[in-house]
Amino acid sequence: MAGSGTFSEIIDGDVYKYYVDGQWNKSSSGKSVPIINPTTRKTHYKVQACTQEEVNNVIDSAKKAQKLWAKTPLWKRAELLHKAAAILKENKAPIAECLVKEIAKPAKDAVTEVVRSGDLVSYCAEEGVRILGEGKFLVSDSFPGNDRTKYCLTSKIPLGVVLAIPPFNYPVNLAISKIAPALIAGNSIVLKPPTQGAVAALHMVHCFHLAGFPKGLIGCVTGKGSEIGDFLTMHPGVNCISFTGGDTGISISRKAGMIPLQMELGGKDACIVLEDADLDLAVANIVKGGFSYSGQRCTAVKVVLVMEQIASSLVKKVNEKVAKLTVGAPEDNCDITPVVTESSANFIEGLVKDAKEKKATFCQEYKREGNLIWPLLLDNVRPDMRIAWEEPFGPVLPVIRIKTVEEGIHHCNASNFGLQGCVFTSDINKAIMISDAMETGTVQINSAPARGPDHFPFQGLKDSGIGSQGITNSINIMTKVKTTVINLPAPSYTMG
Ligand code: G3P
Repeated sequence: MAGSGTFSEIIDGDVYKYYVDGQWNKSSSGKSVPIINPTTRKTHYKVQACTQEEVNNVIDSAKKAQKLWAKTPLWKRAELLHKAAAILKENKAPIAECLVKEIAKPAKDAVTEVVRSGDLVSYCAEEGVRILGEGKFLVSDSFPGNDRTKYCLTSKIPLGVVLAIPPFNYPVNLAISKIAPALIAGNSIVLKPPTQGAVAALHMVHCFHLAGFPKGLIGCVTGKGSEIGDFLTMHPGVNCISFTGGDTGISISRKAGMIPLQMELGGKDACIVLEDADLDLAVANIVKGGFSYSGQRCTAVKVVLVMEQIASSLVKKVNEKVAKLTVGAPEDNCDITPVVTESSANFIEGLVKDAKEKKATFCQEYKREGNLIWPLLLDNVRPDMRIAWEEPFGPVLPVIRIKTVEEGIHHCNASNFGLQGCVFTSDINKAIMISDAMETGTVQINSAPARGPDHFPFQGLKDSGIGSQGITNSINIMTKVKTTVINLPAPSYTMG
């Protein structure tokens, strides 16, 4: 059970505590933030509403702990990370339970998220030992005008305090993908989990606590973004921000100041289907890519751009599969579960209404109960409809029929997003040419967009992000290069 046994110290009464200086504390605000279960729409958990002073304390403590951590041998940092990974996996059941209750993630996917996170921590520890254990040696006479009088040694050093802000849809995995690289690289972490997902994140932090990381190295504050959000992101004690989420990222990037930023802000991932595609493969990927976790993934297929000649067959096959999706509670492992908040459901409904007014073809009847929206395929969508451009983050998928490949690429590139895209074709040359033409961080050939495996580079162009993620890239972003130059005597004084 969440909050009991191993996790009993992280809760007081019915309110989860925040984590500072190696301890679980109550906020002096005396206030809490409710977490509404998307399925029941009732308060399921409560977390502390931390104050700005408490944020200061968490950052101060992280700053102090980092100084010593940076000097802790790499193998020792890796050892602790491996321990945390094991504890995390041992506790997959109570953590997954939180994901089911807080964000309505289907039970099986919730367990997968925790296990995937444990694997990520282990891989990160191994990768960190390798890449941080290497430096460069340069000599000066390879640059014109120089003699061999300078030797340059490079190494990677940590940045300091990394602020990690993960989104609701992967509150454990997308927190871990920031925490693990930061720690192996010698940084400390201040985590601000999303409100929906905060309790799962607090359980995950406790696994790091149990692994025995030094006091203060990891801090976790909860509370209202409106009260501590800007305070955190503009805090002079923060040396790097790793953020995944929505538009808020754009304002964070404007306010953050001169520190490295790693950001992933969503996408309108297009799926281009050519006449020569393996239609069954495309259909399976469109349904999985468009509707898994009810479309609440940055990498979900968010618009299908299909060649006119095969559009009707594709739509028919997609509809056959959509009819088989189960709809209901996350506890029952349904494919489609309630979206995270009522306002998200209202937003999705707004896009559906707009498409209705502008005469899109509804392949299913639009149906909603509370936060639960039944899967919906919209055919014959045109560029004047909002759904053609905006990301619903819900189980509604638009299909645009195209006459030429160029039309598809044009639509994809006219978006302000540029996260991922995919193309289905049996012609590898065409696939590569389309990949080159698509202005997205990644193009998948013959598969739906996806972030994983977690050591692959993951990045968005345009409004989809700054910097690249993936384990190696994250370690690199969370370090800076330090050089030491040895100046030798001028050649005339050398021996021989
Ligand atoms: O929505 C967050 C994004 O990173 C998706 O990850 O693993 O579902 O492709 P994934």
